[in-house]
Amino acid sequence: MDNALLKKLSILPMRLHDIVLIQRIDQKNAMPWPFRYYFKILTSPNFFTNIAWIKKNLVGNITYHLVKNVMHIDKILVDNSYQQWGIGGKLLEHSILEAHKKGAQNVCLNVSLSNKSAINFYSKHQFTIETIKPDYYSKNDDGLNMIRVL
Ligand SMILES: CC(C)(COP(=O)(O)OP(=O)(O)OC[C@H]1O[C@@H](n2cnc3c(N)ncnc32)[C@H](O)[C@@H]1OP(=O)(O)O)[C@@H](O)C(=O)NCCC(=O)NCCS
Repeated sequence: MDNALLKKLSILPMRLHDIVLIQRIDQKNAMPWPFRYYFKILTSPNFFTNIAWIKKNLVGNITYHLVKNVMHIDKILVDNSYQQWGIGGKLLEHSILEAHKKGAQNVCLNVSLSNKSAINFYSKHQFTIETIKPDYYSKNDDGLNMIRVL
């Protein structure tokens, strides 16, 4: 964890003109999501995207939605040049606190069984495996449903 870097970190809600910057990071990290997906979030009352900035550089983003008292994490990404510096953890905890203030009591997400770094990351943040979903992402790519009680 780089404390000097983290002091420069700010986490802010996505604005319309951020979408093109998010898409650049998504594409660079092989996780492209369409413009219409982010655009719809801006007009959907229960969907939220937060962005991690280091000064003027967009270094990560998270999207979640709320259904009653459950926070569903749809996506989290930190630019690979900035991974393992603590940014993902700050983005996740900031968003969980925000969702908790909106009434969330549980957090859930799906992750590929092959994504060991993400599973480590979520386990470090008190998520536990709830169910295994065979072939959830594609054939032979199982999903894990992980949850955290707030
Ligand atoms: C998952 C992700 C968001 C974590 O962000 P990050 O900024 O790197 O995470 P942090 O620095 O806050 O946390 C680091 C912790 O995450 C886990 N982790 C992150 N990268 C890892 C790696 N390459 N190998 C093993 N564990 C890793 C470890 O638990 C690590 O803790 P440790 O350093 O004490 O071992 C980031 O790796 C990422 O964007 N991955 C690609 C997109 C993705 O897979 N998203 C999740 C889809 S469900």
